[in-house]
Amino acid sequence: MRTIAVINQKGGSAKTTTSVCLGATLAERGKKVLLIDLDPQYSATTWMATHAVGRGVFDLFDGPQKTTLRSLIHPTATPGFSLVGSSAWLVGVEKALSKKSGVETVLREKLADLDDPFDYVLIDCPPALGVLTVNALTAVREVLVPVACQVMSLQGLAQLIQTVEMVRERLNPQVRISGIVACRLDNRTKHGPEIVGMLRTRFPEMMTTAIRENIRLAECPSMGEPITSYASGSSGAKEYRSLALELINQEERESHEQIANG
Ligand SMILES: Nc1ncnc2c1ncn2[C@@H]1O[C@H](COP(=O)(O)OP(=O)(O)OP(=O)(O)O)[C@@H](O)[C@H]1O
Ligand SMILES: [Mg+2]
Repeated sequence: MRTIAVINQKGGSAKTTTSVCLGATLAERGKKVLLIDLDPQYSATTWMATHAVGRGVFDLFDGPQKTTLRSLIHPTATPGFSLVGSSAWLVGVEKALSKKSGVETVLREKLADLDDPFDYVLIDCPPALGVLTVNALTAVREVLVPVACQVMSLQGLAQLIQTVEMVRERLNPQVRISGIVACRLDNRTKHGPEIVGMLRTRFPEMMTTAIRENIRLAECPSMGEPITSYASGSSGAKEYRSLALELINQEERESHEQIANG
């Protein structure tokens, strides 16, 4: 089971679009995918939920102690793609946790108890480096960072990398950034490709696939469908398929390396 937190503290960097559309393209390839919406804005839930989710993931943080992740999982209309929803209750999570100890490891413990095997667990994080994002970083092995290429803040990325380092040292020695993905790229401007070029020279974790601006991607949340079913032939669908393939290929490369290293 690969566990991947989709993180960028900068708002509007395509975290939710990437979580949902990458999840859907992985599911299309026969993978079992669980998306956990960890954002109080609950955009992924509004997009994909087909059932009322109640307080959703908030119950893990401030519900009955015995609430399991399993009990919060709902199927979606996309085969192979399940969802743990979020709700506005999550706005109060900092307050709810303020008098408790061990608050950073809540999600990790619940995820460790998950008896349902998924190939991928993706966590859509809020645009902040607060207790929810730290919970995600503590629970996963991998971080995927979408970067919107319209406006870029290298400073923001540096801060994110520092946070990942801090969590690695204090809470989760296994976590690492396994991919940075250029999103919302507009090749018609000089600015977009320049940003991608700059990212490629600085970060070896850059994924080869870049996701271009695509109107279909902007439309599909309000249709309640991922790009794979809303506009299967669009450039957005093709590029998220290519990203899914890259992710899957990372596994093959790693298993080859393991064999090579004995
Ligand atoms: N490749 C794309 N082409 C066109 N529109 C896009 C693309 N990717 C994302 N968008 C749009 O950009 C906006 C921000 O994307 P999204 O909600 O995925 O970002 P986010 O990082 O999850 O935002 P937040 O930080 O608020 O959670 C949305 O309106 C989305 O539909
Ligand atoms: Mg979002």
